Amino acid sequence: MTAHLKMDTTHDAVLDDMVQGVIGTETVRSDGPLKVTGQAPYAGETGEGTEAVGVFVRATIAKGRVASVNKADAMKMAGVLAVITDARLLRNPAQGTANTAPIQDPSEVAYFGQPIALVVAETFEQARHAAQNIPIAYEAATDAVTDPLDGAARIDRPDGKQMEQGDIETAMAEAAFSVDATYTTPSQNSAAMEPHATVASWDDEHLTVHSALQMLKYNRNELADALGISPDKVRILAPYVGGGFGSKLGLSPDVVAAALAAKALDRPVRVVLTRAQVFEATMRRSSTLQRVRLAVDDQGDLTAMGHDAIVSNLPGETFSEAVALATHFLYAGKNRAYAHSIARVNRTCAGSMRAPGEAVGMLALENAMDELAHKAGIDPVALRLRNIPDVHPENGKEYSSRRFADCLTQGAARFGWDKRNPIPGKTRDGEWLIGLGMASAARGNILKESKARVILHADATVTVETDMTDIGTGTYTILAQIAGEMLGLPLDRIAVKLGDTDFPTGAGSGGSWGASSVGSAVFLACQKLRSEIADLLNTDSVELTLKDGVATTGNVQKQLSEALHADLTAIGHIEPGDASDAVKHAGFGAHFAEVAVNSVTGETRVRRMLGVFSAGRILNAQTARSQCHGGMIFGVGAALTEELVHDARDGHIVNHNLAEYHVPVNLDIPQLDVVFLEERDAWANPIQSKGVGELGISGAGAAITNAIFNATGIRVRDYPATLDKLL
Ligand code: MOS
Repeated sequence: MTAHLKMDTTHDAVLDDMVQGVIGTETVRSDGPLKVTGQAPYAGETGEGTEAVGVFVRATIAKGRVASVNKADAMKMAGVLAVITDARLLRNPAQGTANTAPIQDPSEVAYFGQPIALVVAETFEQARHAAQNIPIAYEAATDAVTDPLDGAARIDRPDGKQMEQGDIETAMAEAAFSVDATYTTPSQNSAAMEPHATVASWDDEHLTVHSALQMLKYNRNELADALGISPDKVRILAPYVGGGFGSKLGLSPDVVAAALAAKALDRPVRVVLTRAQVFEATMRRSSTLQRVRLAVDDQGDLTAMGHDAIVSNLPGETFSEAVALATHFLYAGKNRAYAHSIARVNRTCAGSMRAPGEAVGMLALENAMDELAHKAGIDPVALRLRNIPDVHPENGKEYSSRRFADCLTQGAARFGWDKRNPIPGKTRDGEWLIGLGMASAARGNILKESKARVILHADATVTVETDMTDIGTGTYTILAQIAGEMLGLPLDRIAVKLGDTDFPTGAGSGGSWGASSVGSAVFLACQKLRSEIADLLNTDSVELTLKDGVATTGNVQKQLSEALHADLTAIGHIEPGDASDAVKHAGFGAHFAEVAVNSVTGETRVRRMLGVFSAGRILNAQTARSQCHGGMIFGVGAALTEELVHDARDGHIVNHNLAEYHVPVNLDIPQLDVVFLEERDAWANPIQSKGVGELGISGAGAAITNAIFNATGIRVRDYPATLDKLL
């Protein structure tokens, strides 16, 4: 079905009359115990153990050409089976949308750490030894640019990301209060627990890969395209994925390389990236430089909203960190301006990392809003409340559903915001300075075409099949809940099978659209099954109640397994329609944080944090809350510790391991409270849910730096707020 304009309300009726009551209910992830006990094999753990093993040789120059790879010498080393230097290896990591720039010159090096050859040997140790010792000659270019702010960097300004509305200069000049400030955020890495890995094998012309990927429907096409074969010759399996956060949206270098090597050797090949390779050769989040301009009149009403950015990527890449995504629709103000520049640099490819755009864009915007509130003498919550626009301030569209104001007011009440001293540096606990800060959250909501097959077996058990992935988000569990609710069966009668391109094509895990999109496909398939069951009972599906394996219609009750004579199968198919454009779809929220900053050492400890969100129907209260916990923890990392450091000489990533790239650990994270406000979004999709995952990170880090300002009077605009910036 196509989602066109507002959803037909007969859809609401089925779910709002829930007889099982499993949708929305806190339900533990079914894959959780399998993952933590090692029973869920990740890609790198599949296979027989007899595969040949590939290890990458990677460039040690920032820019130039590989003049020669001495394969003959490498082939003499113990156990070495092949050295693959195929040009297709050198593709930059794709972005999940097959928009990767084609490599013109196969020996071209564009960044330090780029894979240039794959050494394949009998064992990992042999492959690694040979990869470290293989003689490589380079012709290094002398014009590498590794710093986006280097004047020599070529700058692209994509047309679609520049905008002016009204006259921001005049509005700034005439403002009662204004902010014009520049913020910087560093390169970051998704640092998913499971490193990128592939096991590839060929059966004649058919390729099977087990790989750590998020978006199988795109990945299959990307891989077929890279190998020059038809997609129907490619099968990808990714039933269990240990986190992605965007880094597995597209193909990482192991996928194509393992497939090429397996073909060359006519033998299965395993390639598992090391942690350093994950950091250097998959995907980084771009560093950003952002200028935010805000102006209010003497009533505190915004009159100007400006957000300019310089981000970076490799030459030719189309992705650029869209930092102004939320700025466009969050607040009022009739004079608006955006400028967006992409500096072309010889650094690891930049791509999507959790909430690309908002995650770092809102660090700047929400930090600036806090500064404006302070200057204007308006409470930060009140400033936001009074600047919630009636309609989208740039295109006049209505919002699909938006409990933004409730998130702000209920969050403030729950957090005890009224106890905050607005004067910075006034609250002490021994040598600790205490501060409270807040920030808004917003993240666009997306529906993606998805299919799912639901088989109702004659014994009243169910199998759900789609090539959708579960990257730790809860897909297995949520899809079982939807099928269970719709067909009136307990969860232990429902098997969900994911992560196999032989199954119907799902949306993939990305952009926080997964649960809503594939969940809608499962919902639609189950609706078809309900009407088939009704036919069997000579009734109408509206008259049919399915609960605990029993079908009831009028006075007739029948065990579902007795009503069924054979398996029933239905495919659900959801496609975004005109509803995508008719209104503005987004999730909203508010973050509140209390920090303690040590007045002697400059160390910041987060003492408590609250996130209040509105994101349509919540499909599983536990997995949704966990997603927001993850986002808020990401926010703590962005605010306080996470920073990829590029060597100024060649752009290489200096801290390419989890010992030196500091993600928060348990001791860094206090009690995190998450509250979802009841909401249905009738425009979003048939199950009226919106994306949750990336909403939790958007704005989170700014609540912390705003709390640091309240604690210390120090306004940190250069993320992360490490100790040296607070002394
Ligand atoms: Mo997300 S960055 O779209 O996996």
